[in-house]
This record gives sequence, structure tokens and C-alpha cells, in this order.
Amino acid sequence: MENKVIDESNQGEALLIEDPSHPNGKKLFLESYGCAMNFSDSEIVASILKDKGFSTTQNFFEADVIFVNTCAIREGAEQRVRKRLTEYRKAKKLKPDLIIGVLGCMAERLKSQFLEQEKLVDIVVGPDAYRSLPELIEIAETGQKAVNVLLSKEETYADIAPVRLGSNGVTAFISITRGCDNMCSFCVVPFTRGRERSRDPQTIVNEATDLFNEGYREVTLLGQNVDSYLWTGGGLKKENVSDEELKNATTFSQLLEKVALIHYDLRVRFSTSHPKDMLDDVLHTIAKYENICNYVHLPVQSGNSRILEMMNRGYTREWYLNRIDAIRRIIPDAGISMDIISGFCSETEEEHKDTLSLMETVKYDFGYMFAYSERPKTLAERKLKDDVPVEVKSRRLAEIVELQLKHSAYRTKQGVGKVHKVLVEGTSKKSKEELFGRNSQSTVVVFPKENYKKGDYVNVLVTNCTGGTLIGTAL
Ligand code: 5AD
Ligand code: SF4
Repeated sequence: MENKVIDESNQGEALLIEDPSHPNGKKLFLESYGCAMNFSDSEIVASILKDKGFSTTQNFFEADVIFVNTCAIREGAEQRVRKRLTEYRKAKKLKPDLIIGVLGCMAERLKSQFLEQEKLVDIVVGPDAYRSLPELIEIAETGQKAVNVLLSKEETYADIAPVRLGSNGVTAFISITRGCDNMCSFCVVPFTRGRERSRDPQTIVNEATDLFNEGYREVTLLGQNVDSYLWTGGGLKKENVSDEELKNATTFSQLLEKVALIHYDLRVRFSTSHPKDMLDDVLHTIAKYENICNYVHLPVQSGNSRILEMMNRGYTREWYLNRIDAIRRIIPDAGISMDIISGFCSETEEEHKDTLSLMETVKYDFGYMFAYSERPKTLAERKLKDDVPVEVKSRRLAEIVELQLKHSAYRTKQGVGKVHKVLVEGTSKKSKEELFGRNSQSTVVVFPKENYKKGDYVNVLVTNCTGGTLIGTAL
């Protein structure tokens, strides 16, 4: 697994869907930026538009409608989308009735202001308003601008069967919550995605079961904070849940168990865990079921308790390390990854060193590392000064990345000489004669193809490695 110093995990890629059963003759170009949650949302958008008869194209010059699902988490992500919009302008010049829509977090953040700033945009739709897309397209077809950025306290798209985009047919994402109530001071997500809602567990189990029956072998349950998943019969978490309601509720740990029980050949992953809410019950459930992967993505953001407090993360360095100890105790061979932000407001050199020393203690398998980027409306933007100079943020980030590369190499090497159960995801990028997949800890494993194929579980004896990939042969 590579280390990621990224602005997004997904740099925007054209997504294709199968042709609809009742085509309307119109073509959609759909592109998704940002996190897995956004990608999962694009699958909902694709499903809604396929039902309306849209087919897709990979060439935006051929499109009648261009939709870009955007990310607002860091300034760089927004800049990338704006640059992309200037490229769409060329297509609009050639085809004036082309409709261009901006979806997702940037749409929510900028609302109708977007239509003024970016004259070529016709539709602006926030993450909770995708059901209204067909109507908004109709409005835009009459030459008017169309906006729907209403956030909802209920919408979970629970009844919409997502169309699997760019799928390998083996692994898929399932959203289990939407929105976030945590208010980390650096983060724009609570503003762009609204209040946290949990999705009816039965619809989650049904979706996972359907995927398994279609041949999928791994699902990743997605939420901004999966540990706070709680279904008490309605989506929005109430301020005070009574004991009676809690007795009948479904917690994240119970949800994991329900999904694991669908079939022992269906692997279950989840993201993202929150250190303040990840308690031992979840870890015991992971340990209990072989098909729940031994891998926890546990963003730390900083190794210093003062900075964590300013970030409003709800835990200290000690609490976080206690959670790491719990993972190691309950799931001894777990893979652990993190997110870290360098140069948050007022971070001193000593405090940065605390982050490095925490990394030294944990020795993460891999990580996603970022320089702090101030976001409008957030607590940090309103109350704190973005006072660490850009060069200092970058230098600290480089130190964090360098250390992580060392730890990734160390962890990968630990996998050599052992047998790993690998779920095959496809042919290796480097050679047609090799397959690749992941082990339980989410590390990529490459091995000669022989007669194995996508979707198979293969026991691979690992004999070699690169910085982040294990290399071996099937047993
Ligand atoms: N600046 C830099 N990184 C950020 N993240 C979230 N907001 C910001 C920001 N304003 C990072 C956090 C989070 C990940 C998804 O993105 O590390 O866990
Ligand atoms: Fe943002 Fe914090 Fe919510 Fe994650 S938990 S989405 S970092 S506010």
C-alpha cells in the first residue's frame, strides 16, 4: 500500500454506467473528486439518472449533461475543480445547450454564489438533494439556472440501489451514515454534509447481500465517524436516547456483526473510525469474525494534546495511545493507518515533534498526510489564526511523510515469510501474468496468476516486498 500525501484520494475520473433499459437519447459525463463517500454518492447519482434513461460517455465533448461531484475539504481540492470547469467551457462553446452541474461539497459550500462566480454552471446541487436532479435538469433545459442545496435531517438514500461505477466486481462501498456532528475545528464537512444520520440497518444488510449474490466479495461500510452509527428507528440521533430505545437500537458493533454474518466469504471493512468513539466492543467484534478485516483507519491529526484540544477532536494523546494499545491487545495483527495534519494554527516545533514521536510509538502501516488548509466558516477560521507559515507547514509535512515511508517499509517487511489470505481484485498494473489483491490488513499483495481469478481467496506465501507491496506465490 502506498503512502498518500494527497489532496483527494480520487483525482477525478470519468465514471461509466451500463446503458439504461429505456434510453432517453441523452448522454451524461459524470466525474467524481474527493473521498470514498463522494464516490459512493456518485453511484447514487448514476442510479437516479440511469432510471431517467441517461447513458454515459467518457468524452465530455459528447455529453448533453456534465456533472462534477466536488470536494471542499482543502483549498487545493476546490482549485482543481475550478480548473476542470475551465476545460468544460470548451465543450459549452461548441454546444451551447450543454448543461453543466456542480454537485457535492463545493456546491453546498458556495450555493448560488457559484452561479455568479462560474457563469458556465447551470445546476448547483448539494449532497442531500440528488433526488431532485431530474427536475433540476428539466429546469436547466429551459435555459434557467437551477439550485437545490437544502440539507436534510433524514435523507440517507436508503432505498436507492446504487449503480456500481468503475467497479472491479469484487469490492464495493456502502454508506451507513451521512453527515457529521463532530465539529472538528479545521473541518468543513459538518457544513457541507449536514447533521449526522444513520441508515436503517436492514437496508444495509440487504445491499450487502445483493452485492454478495452478484459476486462481490468485499464491502466497505462508510461514514465520517462509523463508531457513532446508531439506529433507534429513525435516522437522526436524538439528544437523549432512553434506556428502552437503546436496548432496541443497533450500534456500529452490532451492524458490523450483522454484515459479517451474511456470508463468511464476504469480507467486511469500514471507514472512518473516530478515536474518541472507538471503544473495545467494536474491536472484540472485529476479532470475533474472521471475515471482518483486521484493519483500522484511525485518524490522529496531531500527537499533541493542546493541538488536539484546539482541533476539538475530543481526545488527548494519551487517550489515543490507549486506543492503539486496545487494538494491539484485542487484534494483535491489525493494520493501522492514520490521517495527520501538519501546521495547524499555533503549532510549535515542539508540538510538531510530539506528532513525530507518536508516529514512532505507533509505527503506522500507512497514512494520509496533509498541510493545514484554512476553510471558510469552520471554527478554526472564525476563532484561530492560521499563523504557521506555508514553508513551515510544508517542511513539517515532509518530515511526517519521510517518517511514515520508513514505518511503511518496516511494517511491509514484517509481512515477509508469512502466508497471507488475499482477496484477488484484478490483474497487476505491472504485469498481465500477475494478480493483485489485499490481505486482511489492507496491504497490497502481488503474485503469479496461475489459474486464479478475480474474486478468489488465495493463500499467498510472501517472499519479498517493496516499500509498500508484498510479493509472493500462491500456496
Ligand atoms: N486542512 C488539512 N487537512 C484537512 N482534513 C480535513 N480538513 C482539513 C483541513 N482543513 C484532513 C483530516 C481528515 C481528512 C479526511 O482530511 O486529516 O481526517
Ligand atoms: Fe470532519 Fe471531524 Fe467529522 Fe471527520 S469527524 S468529517 S474530520 S468534523
